[in-house]
Amino acid sequence: MEQIKDKVVVITGASSGIGEATARKLAQEGAKLVLGARRTEKLEALVSEIIGNGGDACYQKTDVTNKENVQSLIDLAIEKYGRIDVLYNNAGLMPLSPLRDLKVDEWERMIDVNIKGVLYGIAAALPIMRRQKSGHIINTDSVAGFAVNPGGWAVYSGTKFAVRAIAEGLRLEESPYSGIRVTDISPGAVQTELPTTITDPELKKQVEEKEKFNGIKPDAIANAVAYAISQPSDVSINEVIIRPTAQRN
Ligand SMILES: NC(=O)c1ccc[n+]([C@@H]2O[C@H](COP(=O)([O-])OP(=O)(O)OC[C@H]3O[C@@H](n4cnc5c(N)ncnc54)[C@H](OP(=O)(O)O)[C@@H]3O)[C@@H](O)[C@H]2O)c1
Repeated sequence: MEQIKDKVVVITGASSGIGEATARKLAQEGAKLVLGARRTEKLEALVSEIIGNGGDACYQKTDVTNKENVQSLIDLAIEKYGRIDVLYNNAGLMPLSPLRDLKVDEWERMIDVNIKGVLYGIAAALPIMRRQKSGHIINTDSVAGFAVNPGGWAVYSGTKFAVRAIAEGLRLEESPYSGIRVTDISPGAVQTELPTTITDPELKKQVEEKEKFNGIKPDAIANAVAYAISQPSDVSINEVIIRPTAQRN
């Protein structure tokens, strides 16, 4: 994976699950990593591990619902490494519930993290990537961004449909002119901490069991991110859908 070595990669939601696994994978391939999330103790441990293994990484406390925080994470990449090759907008949460339960605060939270967090990332990185005439914006979408499941998935799906629309708009606007690549990675069930954000006890149990018994490891998604980044600059991987083999939809 020659193309990954020395690339400066910013990852949001790097403190657990898919973001953490991707940080490890890209560090092994020689990327320089700038990691963001709210749980700094987890980021600190991950950065120490990466540096201990001969890699290059730093972190900053980042809440993606705060645009100054996101700007500051991108600024850190520029201060430390002078450029930004990849922004991986991965932070997300999934407090599923049926619409009739009116958990409006949770709807707002999903919109703030899953949609606005991605937009803040784009806002911070795009001017730099346009100046560089190169860059790569990757988002963690979901199979829920392609189809809506009944039973509590409406708003989460809505956020992931939105991310897909934004990614496609970004690709159409930028890729032919500024050389910026855009990739939307859409996982099915993956074994991560994601179900912990569900407050409906029945639904939480259901999703936890589905992920525990049928979910794939986050490394599978990390490998897909590495695959997208490792392509030559004239090759843009736009969509990757990765399900457990046994998952239907
Ligand atoms: N697991 C699956 O089955 C699955 C399937 C499809 C898509 N996805 C998507 O994959 C992405 C990563 O989730 P995961 O499965 O790896 O779950 P996870 O283990 O719960 O990781 C979520 C990450 O997002 C971060 N995060 C949450 N709110 C944040 C905020 N306000 N600001 C900054 N970071 C925030 C968390 O860090 P802190 O709590 O430390 O801030 C954590 O690092 C999400 O976008 C999710 O929608 C997951």
